[in-house]
Amino acid sequence: MNAQELQKVHKQIAVVGGGLMGHGIAYLLAAAGHDVNIFEPEPGSRASLPRRLQALVELFDDDPGLLRRIHVHGQLAAAVLEAAFVFEAAPERLPLKRQLFAELEAAVAQNTILASNSSAIPSTEIGRHLKHRERVIGTHFWNPPHLVPLVEVIQNEKTSDEVVKATMALLRNAGKTPVHVRRDIPGFVGNRLQHAMKREAIALVAAGVCDAETLDTVVKEGFGTRLAVLGPMEQSDLVGLDLTLEIAEVLYADLDHTAGPHPFLRDKVKAGRLGMKTGEGFRTWTAEEAAAVRARLSNSLVAQAKARKKVLP
Ligand SMILES: NC(=O)c1ccc[n+]([C@@H]2O[C@H](COP(=O)([O-])OP(=O)(O)OC[C@H]3O[C@@H](n4cnc5c(N)ncnc54)[C@H](O)[C@@H]3O)[C@@H](O)[C@H]2O)c1
Repeated sequence: MNAQELQKVHKQIAVVGGGLMGHGIAYLLAAAGHDVNIFEPEPGSRASLPRRLQALVELFDDDPGLLRRIHVHGQLAAAVLEAAFVFEAAPERLPLKRQLFAELEAAVAQNTILASNSSAIPSTEIGRHLKHRERVIGTHFWNPPHLVPLVEVIQNEKTSDEVVKATMALLRNAGKTPVHVRRDIPGFVGNRLQHAMKREAIALVAAGVCDAETLDTVVKEGFGTRLAVLGPMEQSDLVGLDLTLEIAEVLYADLDHTAGPHPFLRDKVKAGRLGMKTGEGFRTWTAEEAAAVRARLSNSLVAQAKARKKVLP
């Protein structure tokens, strides 16, 4: 199926939950030419959607006309009735998501694909009590979804290959970089990698090997400069697997093996040192410093997204 045919078939899309992730997902799909219905039950959040979507038009300097393809609903059934795809981005609670998927199954056509954006709850669990489990799939967007290209497409033990194929094609056609994750495991791929590094980082700072600021400098000014263009597998192939093995032999036994979260992290949380929101976490933060970090991150992601848009056809 080519891009145009695909768009015709899957033109109508529903997004369930118009919060941080949902409004970005709805926006990027509308920008790709789809008609998108957003179901948002909270009146306040519903009322703020036009303003939040308009901000994205301004961010990308897009045609404001694309917002006419987005419709906001306060009733689930009306929002999903005609949808070929539903992306669920509701709060991260299993009973709520299960209930929503049961309602979705009753409201949509039998071949409508039901995708959950959960970062931690397996879609296997969300869809466990449904009749047609072959159309339930995980689509893990990264925050903010309209700026970060990756979407992990997680096939659970019941998801059909056709549903994986259709989901990957839809996301690719919308300008995302979907990857097929073949097992529905905690953290999928991206968060496992992120937290494997964080585990070692916390242990190094806890042991006094370096302070938290130095640790961040090592990542940002060191191997972090290569990460966006060189993944760990190609980096291993680049330097050679013989060298990679030699380093692994020396290093792995010495890496942190603390079972569960490190006591250093537990103690910080217990003491109320939660990070920027309390002024102290691993590092200390004034309100201005915290705002500068957020601005630096946002500016960098926007610049990368704009550069990518320029090179894309
Ligand atoms: N925030 C992130 O960085 C991030 C990244 C990847 C995945 N996720 C996942 O995306 C999902 C949504 O997260 P978020 O950060 O957008 O949360 P959010 O709180 O910003 O948005 C959730 C929205 O769902 C609405 N909602 C409440 N009850 C609902 C219901 N019964 N049905 C439908 N909508 C309902 C809320 O009013 C809110 O607008 C979660 O599963 C989360 O784990 C979040």
